[in-house]
Amino acid sequence: MIDNHGRKINYLRVSVTDLCQFRCTYCIPECGIKQLDHRELLSLEEIYTVIREFTMLGVDKVRFTGGEPLVRKGILGLIESVSRLEKIKDIAMTTNGALLEKMAKPLKNNGLQRVNISLDTLNEKKFREITRTGELSDVIKGIEAAKKEGLGVKFNVVLMKDFNDDEIEDLIELTNIYDADVRFIELMPIGENQGYAKAHFMSCEDILKKVDLKPVVSDDPHAPTKYYRYGNAVGRVGFITAISSHFCGDCNRMRLTSDGKLKPCLHSNKEIDLRNAIRSSEDLGEIIKSAIQSKPEKHYLLENQIIDRGMSRIGG
Ligand code: 5AD
Ligand code: SF4
Repeated sequence: MIDNHGRKINYLRVSVTDLCQFRCTYCIPECGIKQLDHRELLSLEEIYTVIREFTMLGVDKVRFTGGEPLVRKGILGLIESVSRLEKIKDIAMTTNGALLEKMAKPLKNNGLQRVNISLDTLNEKKFREITRTGELSDVIKGIEAAKKEGLGVKFNVVLMKDFNDDEIEDLIELTNIYDADVRFIELMPIGENQGYAKAHFMSCEDILKKVDLKPVVSDDPHAPTKYYRYGNAVGRVGFITAISSHFCGDCNRMRLTSDGKLKPCLHSNKEIDLRNAIRSSEDLGEIIKSAIQSKPEKHYLLENQIIDRGMSRIGG
């Protein structure tokens, strides 16, 4: 389906839970977040219904996110059902990787094709510091398992001044070690993390000044990532510059939160409730169509707009 600004919408990101066993400093407050009552969450059947409706409107790519999607019970069955939908071409997941050692095989068997694994540091002590509860070795085992099962693997690194700016070269080396893309993401001021984000913001441009990288022509014009190559590495180095440059003109996505709200734009507080619509048997297709039409032309982050919902409640 084409939106009001001429963009073809074919990608749905689905957050299946707010919860995460980690508490990354920039994502979740130390005390954790209030767990939603299960009545407030979309059931797996309801999530499936929304995805099916979207595929009838032209969505062929779905990404499961969280919180941490692998802590949601029944996620394997959901992936299996979605993979059977006729129009679906691509099923991916964004995960912290901690449960992948166990889950990589069933995920692959149930139709998952690719994982983006969050990895902000290669230092065990710093990993514990940034995630507050995580162990780097679990994630490394998860990465190995995902590679072994033949899942596509990419890494997401949130760039943080005075935290991982001294590890950029080592993180870029992952493109060689795992033949995988490494994407650096600029820290975004979202939810409760405003102060942290301001203090630790660093732009992707700063990496280009430090490391010799050659631009690569992108194979996907809608990807918000600009890619470069480091030496002869198979994997690419990507930059996601949500703050310092707009990519809204190529945006092809919609987001569904775990409590059933559609978000036409990550950086806007506008949400359309689907949960009650489903439960009162309203015409889901019509509601989704008008939500797509309401996608804003661009975001207003630079104008100091504050986003209420934290990242763990949107799903990246
Ligand atoms: N800014 C940038 N990236 C973030 N992520 C979570 N919170 C933020 C933020 N405030 C990243 C995670 C993960 C993806 C879902 O989003 O590290 O890679
Ligand atoms: Fe969990 Fe990802 Fe948020 Fe870290 S960034 S707390 S791993 S959802």
